Parts: sequence; C-alpha cells; structure tokens
Amino acid sequence: MTKKTKLKLAVLATLLIGWNAKADEGMWLPSLIAQRIADMQEKGFRLDAEDIYSINEASLKDAVVLFGRGCTGELISPEGLLLTNHHCGYSQIQQHSSVEHDYLRDGFWAMSREEELPNKGLSVSFLERMEDVTDLILNGYTPDMTEDERVAIVKKNSKALIAEATKEGNGLRATVEALYYGNQYFLFLYRQYDDVRLVGAPPSSIGKFGGDTDNWMWPRHTGDFSMFRIYADKDNNPAPYSKDNVPYRPKKYFHISTKGVQEGDFTFIYGFPGRTQEYLHSEGVRYIEETSDPHKIHLRTVRLDIMNRHQAESQKVRIQYSSKNANVANAWKKWQGEVKGIKKMKTVQTKQEFEAAFAKWAKGGEFDGVTDRLAAIYAELEPYQFATDYYTETVRTIEIANFAMSIARLFIQEDSLVTFDNAKASELAESFYKDWYLPIDKESFTAVMNEYEKNVPAEFKPAYYKEKLAEYGSVEAWAEDMFTSSLFTDPAKTASLSPADKERVMSDPATVFFNEFLKWYYADILPVTTRLNQELQLVYRDYMRGQMAYCRPQRIPKAFYPDANLTLRVAYGHIKGYSPADGTYYLPSSTIKGIMEKDNPDIFDYNIPQRLRDIYATKDYGRWSDASGEVPVCFIATNHTTGGNSGSPVINADGDLIGLNFDRVWEGTMSDIVFDPEICRNIALDIRYVLFTIDKIGEADYLFDEMTFTE
Ligand code: ARG
Ligand code: ASP
Repeated sequence: MTKKTKLKLAVLATLLIGWNAKADEGMWLPSLIAQRIADMQEKGFRLDAEDIYSINEASLKDAVVLFGRGCTGELISPEGLLLTNHHCGYSQIQQHSSVEHDYLRDGFWAMSREEELPNKGLSVSFLERMEDVTDLILNGYTPDMTEDERVAIVKKNSKALIAEATKEGNGLRATVEALYYGNQYFLFLYRQYDDVRLVGAPPSSIGKFGGDTDNWMWPRHTGDFSMFRIYADKDNNPAPYSKDNVPYRPKKYFHISTKGVQEGDFTFIYGFPGRTQEYLHSEGVRYIEETSDPHKIHLRTVRLDIMNRHQAESQKVRIQYSSKNANVANAWKKWQGEVKGIKKMKTVQTKQEFEAAFAKWAKGGEFDGVTDRLAAIYAELEPYQFATDYYTETVRTIEIANFAMSIARLFIQEDSLVTFDNAKASELAESFYKDWYLPIDKESFTAVMNEYEKNVPAEFKPAYYKEKLAEYGSVEAWAEDMFTSSLFTDPAKTASLSPADKERVMSDPATVFFNEFLKWYYADILPVTTRLNQELQLVYRDYMRGQMAYCRPQRIPKAFYPDANLTLRVAYGHIKGYSPADGTYYLPSSTIKGIMEKDNPDIFDYNIPQRLRDIYATKDYGRWSDASGEVPVCFIATNHTTGGNSGSPVINADGDLIGLNFDRVWEGTMSDIVFDPEICRNIALDIRYVLFTIDKIGEADYLFDEMTFTE
C-alpha cells in the first residue's frame, strides 16, 4: 500500500472513532463496539464490549446465526434450540405440509427429538470472527491504477485470504466485504451447520396473523416465530444430515427474561441487516422517490389486482398464489411507506443543501467536484436504470417465460456432455405447475407489457420486441398467441420432452420471449449500468471520506456507520411509541386484547384459532399475563433495522432475550435511506407471547425444560 492510501485510511480511522451519532441511528460493527459501549451504557446497557463480541471468550455473538439466505436466528438452549420468525421458516414449514398434515394451517410441534423434521438446503452460520483486512486486500494497489485493475487486485487478494482462513475446512466459510464503498475491507469467518431441523411453528392464523393487511403496520399482533434445532456430529462439528447427529452445543445461548418491557427500556438488536444506502447523493434519492419506487409500485399494483381477483374466486388459487402474492406485496407496501417518508423528511432537498455546502467547502481540496461528478454519473445512468427496473418488474415476472427458460437451460449447458435430463425437468415442472394458474399469468403479461409499451422509451426496447409487437398488432394478441401456442401451457407436453426436442424448446414463443430480452439486456443495458455503477462506486469512495472529513470538525451531527451488507451488526435504542400523524400517538406495546378486537372468522387474515378464543374467554393465561392482566404480544423500539434483521434477538440491558424482531412501522420504512428517530421503529414479538403460544396453543411446554429463565 502506498503512503497516500495509508494516510487516507488513518484519517478515516480517526474520523470514525468516538464520533457520536444522532439518537439511535446506526448499525454498528460488533468487533468495533468498544467505540460505542460508553454510549450504550449511558443509555442503560449493563454489560461490556467483550460480552457482545470476543474472539477468546464465549460472547453474545456466539448465540446469533445467519438463518438461511437472509434472516437471523438465535440460540435459546444449551441443546441447539433456535428461534427465528415464522416468515423466515415459512418455506420449510410449507415443504413439510400436505393436505393430510397442513402445518401451515394447523401449526407443527415435535413432541420429541425424533419428530423434528430435517430441511434440505437450510443452513445456519455462526460468525467465528471478523477482522479489518484493508491492508491485505489492497496490497499491490496504487492510486494511479484504474478501477478495473483495483477490482482485479481486490478479487485476487480476497481469494487468497479466504483460502487461508478456511483451510481447516470443518464448515468454515469466509467472505471479504467492502465497507464504506471500499474504504475499508473486512474478513468475515463463519462456521456453517447444515443439519437444521424444524421443531415447532404456530398455526399461520397466529404466526401470520394480520397477513398482508397488517404487514409493515403498527399496532401489530402477529405471532411471527418458528423454532428449529441445530444438529452436529458427535464432536459438535458441522455435518450433513444424519440420524446419528446430535443436538449442537453452542458456546453461548440467550437466557430469557419474562419480566416484561416498559417504555424507555434499553434494547439492543443483534443480527444480519441486508442492505441500506444512507450516504446517497440527492440524485440517487430523487430517482428512488420520483421515478423508481412509483413505477415499481404501479406495476405491482397491476399484478396484485389480478392475483387478488382470481384468489378471491377460488380457494385453490388462493393457496397457489399465497406465497407469491406475499412476496410481491411485501416490497410493494414497503416502497409506498418509503416514498412517503422520504417526501416528509424532504430528504432530496436536505441532501441538496448539504451537497452545496460540501462543494463550497471542498473547493481546491481533495474532494473538489465530487458531488458534481456523482450528479453527472446519475444523469447518464438514469435511463439505463429505468430500463432495468422495467425489465425486472415486467418481462422477468412472466411465470411461463421463466419456466420455459429454466427448461431451455437443461438443453444448453456449456458442457456438451450434458444432455437433457428428464428427472431434472420433471422436478422443475412439478414445482412450477403446482402453483401456476394460467389466467393470472396471461392477464399479468397483458397488463405489464402494456405498461412497458407505454412507459419505456423506444430506444430502450429490444428490436425483437418492436418487431413482434408490430407483427401481432397488440400486446393482447401477443398474449393470446403465447398462452395458446407455447408447449409449456400444457404439463403433458412438458412431461414428454426428450433430448431430441431442443429445437422445439428453443423456438417456443415463451422461451424466445425470455431469451431475446435476456440477450438484449446483456448486450445493451448491463454493460453500461455495470460501468456506470463502477464509476459511482469510485466517486462514492471519495465522497464517503469527504462527508466524514466535512461533518466531524464542524460538529454536524451525522452518524457514520457502514451501510448494511448482510454482515453481523449491533443496533441499540429503547422502547418507545410514536406519533404517525397529527393528533395521534401510538403506544409501544400491544396485547391479546387487540387480537380479539381484530378477530373475524370471515376475514382470512383475522381468523384466529378457536383455541385462542377459548383461552381469552376464560383468561387461562397461565404465567404469561402482564401487570394489566393481559398477554403481551408485540412492542416497538427505536432500533435501526432492515430486511435481514427478521428473527434477530431483542436483548435487554442485562443481555437477556426479551423479544424477536420481525418488521418495521410503515411510516418509518425510509430508514434504509434516511433515519428519523421520531418515526422509525422496529417491531418485535414479545418473548412472553412466544412462550404463551408454545405452552397454551402448542402444548409443547416440555421445551421450557431446556431454556434458562432469568426470573
Ligand atoms: N415486512 C416483513 C419483512 O419485510 C415481513 C414480511 C412477511 N410477511 C408478509 N405478510 N408478507 O420481511
Ligand atoms: N421484515 C423484514 C425481514 O424479514 C425486517 C424489516 O425489513 O424490518 O427481515
């Protein structure tokens, strides 16, 4: 590394240390938490930095896992018992469900270890350690190099470092992640366990209570949890599923506090937030607020209307599209809250003012012209990004075209020895046709492609598309043809495919549709967006340091923490209500009373199990009621969280578990871009409602024997 880079990094380090953030904003690196611990303690935390993260001693980090592809889970017993959200374990619960055993509808409780259900493809990862490796990763890099050269060096050095770090094998897995746009690099070393079994899940009428109606909303009453158990070999090491495996013995597990929560209590969330963009230039935010989010919302409204209409008409279709609908609706609803939040915060204007002052300050120095360069790149990028957004939210959502392409891929493997594989094809076909309803896909094609036609400028449409549309005369006629003549509309035809059918599959209208757009995207769009995003990356690297260098000496109260990137983080705050609108104040906790107020057998999202009604009528709450005599259900707090934090432990001042994170309030969903401490709240499940449900609904209170309660 050159002297100059070294100096830059040293400056960065001093800028980061001891810099006080605005209240409760921030997702902090566990290994650097000593820099925040005084603030945490001042806000009520009673443990030390070493209790949170230590490489020598067992610490809380050893009780937290990355669950599956994008959730968090935590250990709650010395025998590998793990808690996460219902929506995080959803696909596993669904996989084990059938008409005879509908675990989604009825819930599932293993009454012994033998009854716990293995899950192919599910793994959890513990963070062994994390480490600043900036010097090693940039070894060989000099500032006169191009970004391409830098990327190549980073890649090469990362590969070597990862190989070295994981050479012991034994489930070790490592990644190198760029922080602050590549001003810093960290190595994350994980140990991954692949035998993870389902232990319990409440019925969806509890675990998904409120459904998409209540999603992203407060007040909330969702019992969003499920339980798993990690298994290991006899030496406690990772091992693929085997009936000889034994429950994993964690270095650390959470003790559970049933004392309850009060407004003002300190809370701390330990988990894997996925993605935030807190340091964007105003033009990046403006594009999201004015263009990208509104268009994506509209396109999804169109698709959801079609799904909802058909789902309301048929029980079968309702089930087929329940998970698809939930996925489409989740981001759709979030983006609406996000746009409102950005508008209300006047984020674009605030950022413009900041940038103007910054530019003035930067004149003649290292950061001169940085904000203008960002604006210029955004101007060039925007039409390409718009074309990409439309492509992803229209063409790529056509189910039959996606399926056609997945079958086509079986014919066009690079390796010429691979011939078409019937078994693989029938596997794909089985899972596709089970949940596919042609009228929805066809109407959706017509609707989104009409939007595409209307809103995407001609120079950003592939020639193939223009020719086809001219040939058919209308999107409707095109849809009519595709959904009649494609062989993929007929499961029997798909089932009879053989290696000789390559030509037929490749020239099928659904395959051609997908493939032609794909080729165009790879040729005309992706190279440009890749190049411009790389340029952005490069300038943001300076702008990031520039923002720190500008803010700190002038005591501008701006929090600096690396954007979320699905690495382990600490967020801390306190339990607190909020005012979503003039004249309204939301209390910070909800109870079972609210479930009964929403209860309605005629509304799917609000139809609770009869058992819960009976319990409520007789107030048979066992030990799980609070001072008011009701069972607490959810609470909100000021912790800064995002997607991926689902399932994260909510921890109290003594390091004990008081809840399970699962969502955010709608008015605060702009927190991925701008955090408002007045409005942004995470939503957690009160641990007492989890215990109540295990006990009174699941009658699986034998699980309590392995847990540790602090009072
Ligand atoms: N909004 C939460 C998150 O982003 C929960 C999503 C699952 N629930 C649902 N009703 N779609 O993951
Ligand atoms: N529901 C999100 C998740 O699944 C959490 C959030 O976005 O607040 O991770």
